[in-house]
Amino acid sequence: MEEKQVVEFLAAKKLIAGREEIQLILNSESPERVLENASKNTSSFYLEKKDIEKAIQDLEEKIIVIEPSRKIAAKEVDRNIKIHPDSLTNKKTLGTTGDFVEYFRERFKKLKGTLATRINSNPLTTIEKAKKTLAKTRVIGMVKSKKQTKNGHMIIEIEDEEDTLTCFAGKDSKIMESARQVIPDEVIAIDGKQSKDLFIIEAITWPDIPYKQKKTTEEDISLAMISDIHIGSKLFMKKEFTKFISFLNGKTENKAYEKIKYITIAGDLVDGIGTYPEQEKDLENNDIYLQYEILGEFLKSIPEYIEVILTPGNHDASRLSEPQTRIDDEYIKSVKGYSNLHFINNPGFVEIHGIKVLLYHGASQYSLISNIQEASDGFTSPQKTAIEMLKRRLLNPIYGSKPPIVPAGSEMVIDNDKIPDVMHFGDIHKKGYAEYRGTTVVNSGCWQKTTSNQIKRGLTPSPGEVPIYDMRTGILKIEKFAADENIEK
Ligand SMILES: [Fe+2]
Repeated sequence: MEEKQVVEFLAAKKLIAGREEIQLILNSESPERVLENASKNTSSFYLEKKDIEKAIQDLEEKIIVIEPSRKIAAKEVDRNIKIHPDSLTNKKTLGTTGDFVEYFRERFKKLKGTLATRINSNPLTTIEKAKKTLAKTRVIGMVKSKKQTKNGHMIIEIEDEEDTLTCFAGKDSKIMESARQVIPDEVIAIDGKQSKDLFIIEAITWPDIPYKQKKTTEEDISLAMISDIHIGSKLFMKKEFTKFISFLNGKTENKAYEKIKYITIAGDLVDGIGTYPEQEKDLENNDIYLQYEILGEFLKSIPEYIEVILTPGNHDASRLSEPQTRIDDEYIKSVKGYSNLHFINNPGFVEIHGIKVLLYHGASQYSLISNIQEASDGFTSPQKTAIEMLKRRLLNPIYGSKPPIVPAGSEMVIDNDKIPDVMHFGDIHKKGYAEYRGTTVVNSGCWQKTTSNQIKRGLTPSPGEVPIYDMRTGILKIEKFAADENIEK
């Protein structure tokens, strides 16, 4: 702004001002705004110095009060997400006996390959050859059965491609503790030697995941993990979930939202219909399309710079058998075109800025809790059950248990190229986390109130809490969006 313009402005307002006053205006940070405001301050035809000084002061105060527009860290980062092709395919299967035979053959082949690379003092051989030698050997087999004898000994039957081996662990032997952990249909290596009709077990080795250095990102971003929202249920915690969405939109004092670039949702997005007998009594909306529409409204309220990855759970509109295919487009029409929403299969596998994330709803936990001693407190410490899955490199090991397995690919095996940096699961409605061999294991709780029936069954849900994983530091923090007491009265 120049002196001439100031004079013209004053003339138009029928005002005059001295040279000193005009200079004061021109020297200010914002001459236009000072002139405008000062002209309003004056009550005479002469623009006095005090009027101009007041305008300058008012403006400075305003500048101090108005915060500079905050830069949200996650917004500045470009999305970097790779969804594994297995997590998007819809493999059709008839589930014939032949399909199952092939499925278990593939499971055995993969896990045998993993176990065969382990260095060991005993020579690795086939079951057929191990039976014919008196020397110590190592064999790899799929567990056919496990039985405790009347005297408390353990008989484990394993099989490879050609033969079956009856293995023995004595009641008081050191190996008994390991023998107890063996479950049907998993693949293990057994060291020992043949004695008459029995192979005496000396050691048991599980495929397990290798120790690895924790992988982190250069970008200062984080991943929020949620699951088991159960929209449609009378017990869905709408208020608390809305609070979480508001938090993501920055309506909070908590600055943790600024780093959230990704959200994974590990199933049970809605409560569904007909998931269990007489479910309609517990439903607020008994139309599954409406349930997904409500979900869509919440998803649309998440800032678009946040990428959201969603898998189905056993309550969702997908087949019950695992692997579950992603939610069909007909249910999620309302969010069509939202390129930040990624619906994938369960289990699902994604790489986010190079961090490998395995998502699994986790419906096999019930069968593992009742079959594995180490996971027997899985209802209160679900991370222990997930560790048992990693140890076996199998997400749903036991054939014939719930949920059923469908022979569609090998997605239930944790392949060498899918060893996760983060394993996110849900289903038990209880938060839990652990570090295991460089993998962060997280159960993300739920958004459904606790029922008295759940408490009776030994379940202790933790609703309204969100684990947030800092991808740059590898540190996990829990943010609470609900009061402690959330039990349905
Ligand atoms: Fe659930």
